[in-house]
Amino acid sequence: MDRFEGRYAAVTGAASGNGRAIAEKMLAEGARVAALDLNGEALAAVFGEDPRVLRVECDVADERSARSAMAEVAGVFPRLDVLVNNAGIVKFGTFETLPLAEWDQVFAVNSTGPFLVTQAASELLRAGDTAHTRAVVNITSVEAHIVISSSGHPQIHYNASKGALLQLTRALSVELAPAGIRVNAVAPGYIRTPFTAEALEQDEVRGFLLDRTPMGRIGEPEDVAGGVAFLASDEASWVTGTTLFVDGGWTVY
Ligand SMILES: NC(=O)c1ccc[n+]([C@@H]2O[C@H](COP(=O)([O-])OP(=O)(O)OC[C@H]3O[C@@H](n4cnc5c(N)ncnc54)[C@H](O)[C@@H]3O)[C@@H](O)[C@H]2O)c1
Repeated sequence: MDRFEGRYAAVTGAASGNGRAIAEKMLAEGARVAALDLNGEALAAVFGEDPRVLRVECDVADERSARSAMAEVAGVFPRLDVLVNNAGIVKFGTFETLPLAEWDQVFAVNSTGPFLVTQAASELLRAGDTAHTRAVVNITSVEAHIVISSSGHPQIHYNASKGALLQLTRALSVELAPAGIRVNAVAPGYIRTPFTAEALEQDEVRGFLLDRTPMGRIGEPEDVAGGVAFLASDEASWVTGTTLFVDGGWTVY
């Protein structure tokens, strides 16, 4: 398929896991991709000198960094047709002892980051190819909807930050609809990435997850990328403000 031929996309957190798979999917379907990540070395290792990729070191949680990253994109790309807010962090800890600094850090990356990056990208998105739909896709989580703390990993700040991103997605879809820009979310279940590697090594956690997943396997980053590509494509031209669960059926029961 070549759904993104001639299109310009930006993906945050593109150097690893889901973001990398999303960027690679966009490239495979014809897009030029601005790959944004905090880790410049990892970006270079993953994308090398690929002429279709603009590598941009960026901290999505920092307003100045988000703005200068989008200014760099604007210097090379004439417009943006797709923005994927994927960068995110997870921390674990019980409520009673959770430091405020850690709460703030998780919110800064997972909730404020997508706000800052989308705001900084807004002119480029509005300049997008009006012959096609333009799209923002936010990577939330099943944890925006349910709580999997029974796996032994309480993470209220992660839950709350992804819940905020879910509602940011819905509210922004209304505000950007008149400009023809759709805003949706992909909510992954447990996906095999560096983010989850440690937890997945524990037999107990892996067993718990597999027992709860009707499809009987852990998700792969390519599963997430497939959902993102659909929502970003013209096939979803009347889809906005919604969430696509990519979770092997986890949230069905
Ligand atoms: N892996 C899962 O099971 C899972 C499940 C649900 C949702 N998600 C979400 O998917 C997204 C990606 O997760 P992943 O599993 O690929 O993680 P990952 O740790 O493999 O990759 C995250 C990437 O984001 C980058 N990053 C972190 N903070 C950043 C910042 N402030 N600015 C820019 N880049 C930053 C990291 O350098 C890294 O390259 C996250 O939003 C996460 O919440 C993951």
